[in-house]
Order: sequence, then structure tokens, then C-alpha cells
Amino acid sequence: VGRERTGSKSRLFEVNDGSRLVIGSQEPELVAGPSQYGSLWPLPQKVHISDVSFKLSSSNFQITDAKESSAGPSCNLLQSAYRRYYEYVFVGPKNQKRGRDQPAGPSEVTELQVWITSPDSDCDSFPTESSDESYELSVDQPVAVLKAPKVWGALHGLETFSQLVYEDEFGAKTINSTVISDFPRFAHRGVLLDSSRHFIPVKVILANLETMAMNKFNIFHWHIVDDSSFPYLSQTFPQLSEKVRNRDGYRIRYFLRYRPNSIVPTEHRFTSFETVLLLTKWPDLWWFFPPFKQMLADVTFPPPPPNRKSNPDIQKFMEQQGFGQDFTKLESFYIQRLLDIVTTTQKGYMIWQEVFDNGVKLKPDTVVHVWMDNGSDKEMAKVTAGGYTTILSAPWYLDYISIGQDWQKYYKVEPLNFNGTDDQKKLVIGGEACLWGEFVDATNLTPRLWPRACAVAERLWSAKEVTDTNDAFNRLAVHRCRLVERGIPAQPLYTSYCPREYKGI
Ligand SMILES: *[C@@H]1O[C@H](CO)[C@@H](O)[C@H](O)[C@H]1NC(C)=O
Ligand SMILES: *[C@@H]1O[C@H](CO)[C@@H](O)[C@H](O)[C@H]1NC(C)=O
Ligand SMILES: *[C@@H]1O[C@H](CO)[C@@H](O)[C@H](O)[C@H]1NC(C)=O
Repeated sequence: VGRERTGSKSRLFEVNDGSRLVIGSQEPELVAGPSQYGSLWPLPQKVHISDVSFKLSSSNFQITDAKESSAGPSCNLLQSAYRRYYEYVFVGPKNQKRGRDQPAGPSEVTELQVWITSPDSDCDSFPTESSDESYELSVDQPVAVLKAPKVWGALHGLETFSQLVYEDEFGAKTINSTVISDFPRFAHRGVLLDSSRHFIPVKVILANLETMAMNKFNIFHWHIVDDSSFPYLSQTFPQLSEKVRNRDGYRIRYFLRYRPNSIVPTEHRFTSFETVLLLTKWPDLWWFFPPFKQMLADVTFPPPPPNRKSNPDIQKFMEQQGFGQDFTKLESFYIQRLLDIVTTTQKGYMIWQEVFDNGVKLKPDTVVHVWMDNGSDKEMAKVTAGGYTTILSAPWYLDYISIGQDWQKYYKVEPLNFNGTDDQKKLVIGGEACLWGEFVDATNLTPRLWPRACAVAERLWSAKEVTDTNDAFNRLAVHRCRLVERGIPAQPLYTSYCPREYKGI
């Protein structure tokens, strides 16, 4: 039991012995068996897998544009996804002894046709939370068909198709006749990564974005800066990041366009930027009068006040405003100004719950992020009763590690399990799995996040009724091995083995 450092979103517990390990998970240890849904993860809304099976061979299979599709060969987003998923479908056989070669025949799937049905495929845009992510997949021989109104649904459908492929007892790639109709339950399905506490190489971030796509997450919440460091290069104010440069944001944004993910740039704590500001020669009260609007063009969120407690000008300002020593009031004043400025840019904003708790005046379309674990169901009820859109993270702080199958705890969360009307429940647009960075860098980020975040992925994508932890375990055990096969060092769920193990460094 530790004392919560309330100022920090990362909810760091300071335990006397310096350890954060919670010993003894309450969750039962499950052992894997086969699922009637194979290894699909997250489980689609409607699935029928029959017992009729077909073969696929790498020399005789292709992913193509359907004739009627509104996205053709010029849609690079899809063409590169076809190449990627061809590789994923046939991952492994190159390095393994193949069994009997199945001749191309009547029971072989030779083509997956992708048909974008709406006149505007969205191929050249970025996804947003209102993007259509639905798709329909029908696997038959010799042709399987994937239909989606937009490219985003097609990307999800390609992943689903790749998950239907398994190896028969001879190692031959096999797929059953299947009909799937799928769409997400929640529009906002995010992962928060924190690059402020430790350096995270771009390739690690990219590999995790790829893994997010494999789990149908669609929001990357990038906590770029905090009081520990400022690895963000502002083009408007390059001095801000003089000490720690990072020119990689563009590359990551470019990558995201090729996945069904969009990006929530960053936010920062009230105390962020302090170190950086002390290094700069800007006037003490610059934050009340700076060219915020210009800065918003690339930062979106301006820095908070420098060194607020010891700064005599700020003390004087607080006196004038009648704040006394109540820094909550100063914070609310600051946030109110900030939100007023953001409002003028026509950009939406997302805030942490205490901004709402502190009574800051919010635009009606504000998204409130519920993260504190002291009764988050009551908080969800309060926020939605106020008419605000909300997303949930409180039960999904994956940097809290414990021994045992703690994914079950994340899996059992029901975001709408609070007292409220149907209209209130409609305001819950999803949630985020958060991996804060105090104890995380490239050495442990990926195994700590996966497959534990998969539990959150299924909760946010699949139907509310999908709650069978035994069936989930059976699918997740195979899904985890699939991630490993694709080169992602996802940690084991329990005593087990994979057909192709991770070989390490
Ligand atoms: C796929 O078909 C085989 C028989 O060909 C059957 O044994 C298996 O259970 C089917 N898989 C699923 C997930 O239904
Ligand atoms: C949780 O704690 C915060 C800060 O102490 C407080 O503002 C909030 O109202 C509490 N939430 C509930 C549901 O009691
Ligand atoms: C909803 O309210 C009722 C009565 O006010 C209470 O018994 C119940 O525990 C509450 N449910 C939740 C999920 O908070």
C-alpha cells in the first residue's frame, strides 16, 4: 500500500521499499484449449466459422482489388497492406520443413478480393474517430471477398483474414469457410505511451503501432513531454527543445496514415516544461501573454507556468487574483485560459478528469479522460451527467505490474457499468490502455504492453456480451504466439509453448 502522488497522471505509488510489484494476482490461472472462434482477436461482432476447410499456398495466392472497388492500384495504403498481410499469412513456412505440398485444387483459396464500397475510399486521408471501420468478410473457394465502405475497415478485415489462417497437422496453411460481419463497439480505442520519462527509439514506437493495428486499436495517445524531459521539437519555438531534439514526429505521423490509427498529440501536466523554461530567458509571466495562437499551430498545448511556487511574480499574481496559496485555483485559471485559446483554433480538446473536477468551464464537446481509480464508476456517472463525452483509463494502467494472469482483470472491466441513463452511456466513446514510462524504456516496453493490452482491445472492440474468460484465454494464447511469430516480443500468458518461439537478441 502506498501513497498516491496526486499531481501525476501516472499515478505512481511510492512504496517504502521502492518497489511497485504487486504480489499475488487474484485471477485464476487458465490453461489453453481450442476455441470455436479459432484465434480471432478481438472477437468480431458476428462470426460463423464452418468445418469446411481450404488450403492456401504462397505460390498460388494473391490479394487483389475487386473490379468494383473505389480504391485501385493507386491506393498505396491498401497496396502496402496487401504486401504486409501476404507476409503475415505466410509467415514461418520459409524457415520450416513443410509437409505434404498440397496441389492447387478445388479446395484452395487463391484470391482475396478487397472491395471498397463507398465512392470515397478515404485512401488519401487520416482516420478520425468518426471514420467508418466496419467490414464484411466471406471466405470461400477459390475467392474470398472483403467488403468495406472505407479503407479503414479493409485494414481491419485484412488483419481478421490473416487471423483465420492456421496450419494443419502437416504444416500446410489452412482456412475454414467463414462469414464475418464486424464493426467496433467503441470509437476511441487507445494506447498511451510515454516518451518523457525514458528515451524510446522510433522503431520501438513503430513496432507498437503495428501491434496496435493487429489488435484493432485506433488511437495512439502520445505522452511526449512531461516535467522529466521535453523531446518535442517545436518549429515555432525551437528553443523549447534545444536540449533534447526529436525530429521523428513526422515519420511517426506518416506511418500512422498507413494504419487504421489516428494520433492524439500530447498533453502535459501542470508542472511540465518547468525545467525547460528555467533554461530559457523568457519573462517570468510570459505564459499569460505569449503568442499562444502561433504556438498552437504546432504544439496545440502551450506550456504551463514556470517554477510557480517560488516565483515572486506568480505569488503576487495569486494574491491579486485572491487565490491565496491554492494552486488548484491557479491551475484552473491557467487551464481555463488555455482551453479558451484552444477553442478559438477550432480544434477539439481532451482533458484529464481533474480539470472537470475543479470546475473549469468546458466546451460542450470536451472529452474528459477518467483516470483516477477512487471510484471511477462514480466519476463516469458525474462526467456524463454533465453532458460531457468521456473515455476511461482508470482500470487500465498497465504499468502496474503484478504476477499472474492480470489480463483477466482488465478484460472483466465493463466501461458502461455505472449508474446513468442511456443518453449518459452514449457519451462514453471508449478508453485507453496506459503504459506510463517511469519504469519503462525500449528494454521492456513491448513485453509489458503485450499481450496485456489485448484484453483492453477486445473489451473496446467486441460486443458487450463477449465476457467468457475461458474462451478469451484460448484465443489469446494463440494470438500471443501469432504476435511472437510476427517478431513482437509479447510476454507469455502462462506456462505454454509456441510453434515458433521468440529467439531473443
Ligand atoms: C475448421 O475446420 C476443421 C475441419 O476441417 C475443424 O476441425 C475446426 O474445428 C474448424 N475450426 C473452427 C475454428 O471452427
Ligand atoms: C477522486 O479523487 C479526486 C482527487 O482527490 C477527487 O477530485 C474526486 O472527486 C474523487 N472521485 C470520487 C469519485 O470520489
Ligand atoms: C447504482 O445505484 C444503486 C442505488 O442507488 C446502487 O445500489 C448500485 O450499487 C449502484 N450501481 C453502481 C454500478 O454504482
